[in-house]
Amino acid sequence: MRVFSGIRPTGSLHLGNYLGAMRQWIAIQEKEDCVFCVVDLHAITTPYDQKQLKANIFELAVDYLAAGLNPEKCILFIQSTVKEHTELAWLLGTVTPLGELKRMTQFKDKSKQHPEYVNAGLLNYPILMAADILLYQTDLVPIGKDQQQHVELTREIVRDFNNRFGQVFKEPRALLPQIGDKIMSLAEPEKKMSKTGNQKGCIGLFEEPESIKLKIMAAVTDTGKEIRYNPSKKPGISNLLTIYSLASGKPIDQLEKEFDKKRYSDFKKSLAEYLAGYLEPFRRKRTELLTREVYVNDILKRGSQKALTVAQSTMQEVKTAMGLEI
Ligand code: TYM
Repeated sequence: MRVFSGIRPTGSLHLGNYLGAMRQWIAIQEKEDCVFCVVDLHAITTPYDQKQLKANIFELAVDYLAAGLNPEKCILFIQSTVKEHTELAWLLGTVTPLGELKRMTQFKDKSKQHPEYVNAGLLNYPILMAADILLYQTDLVPIGKDQQQHVELTREIVRDFNNRFGQVFKEPRALLPQIGDKIMSLAEPEKKMSKTGNQKGCIGLFEEPESIKLKIMAAVTDTGKEIRYNPSKKPGISNLLTIYSLASGKPIDQLEKEFDKKRYSDFKKSLAEYLAGYLEPFRRKRTELLTREVYVNDILKRGSQKALTVAQSTMQEVKTAMGLEI
């Protein structure tokens, strides 16, 4: 099975990115044929600093390796180094209904967030994402819940395209984790954890243990005293239980028993310890990799060459099917 996914280089990775998406990548690279990408072209659809972007791209590649991606087991590369992504996006744009793009939740959210920057790229963002996925004839797309709508649109694009031009693309499926597909902010548990939200609610994957502990201890909890999983009535505690379960490997019902009659503060103290320990190896590996620029760039270059071979072959098929010169 072919697997494809990517993350935007818009700042340091957080726990939501890891538990929602990357944790699945690390596991699936052992069994399937995986392609993972630093999606830099998606990062420029919202305001950004062009001097910082290059550093962010390199650092995200380092983060991928530090979190456990193994370049011997998967292809790692930077999206803009394989020009077929933008070429296919243009072609797919001609079969994508405008109404579908306007309906996308992320488009609506980002337009509200940056009313001064509602560019056509932001609207067309899901087409580029469809191109990313379809260039590699992908079966599975491991992502968090917020990206599921874009994969559904990709599936619709495939159906329309294949109906019109013949069987060219496979219909990919989104792969969501059983728990942790939407990690919430620690400060505002009704909102998802994000790089751009309240920083007190967001735990970086490479954050210092002291800072992690402070954020967990200050996390917003709910009224009542019980440590019970109930996302609609107890969103704060349920989110912390989810994080605890994923970091410790203990099922949520076991944690509920373990902390029965204990105080929120005891639970948080224990979670903070677990989480700091869980993330420590990532931080160490990242510090080491940041000094190995040549090594990382070499991995990306080799990844880009391998990706290009697959991408070019798909493009030939697509252009032939559409009646274009190849
Ligand atoms: P991005 O960069 O916003 O997020 C990267 C991945 O992290 C997941 N995620 C979360 N999961 C659980 N809880 C959260 N709070 C949370 N926040 C983020 C996202 O679901 C995502 O899987 N459009 C994509 C990038 C992209 C892509 C692709 C993904 C471009 N092309 C092709 C898959 C395939 C995005 O903006 O992700």
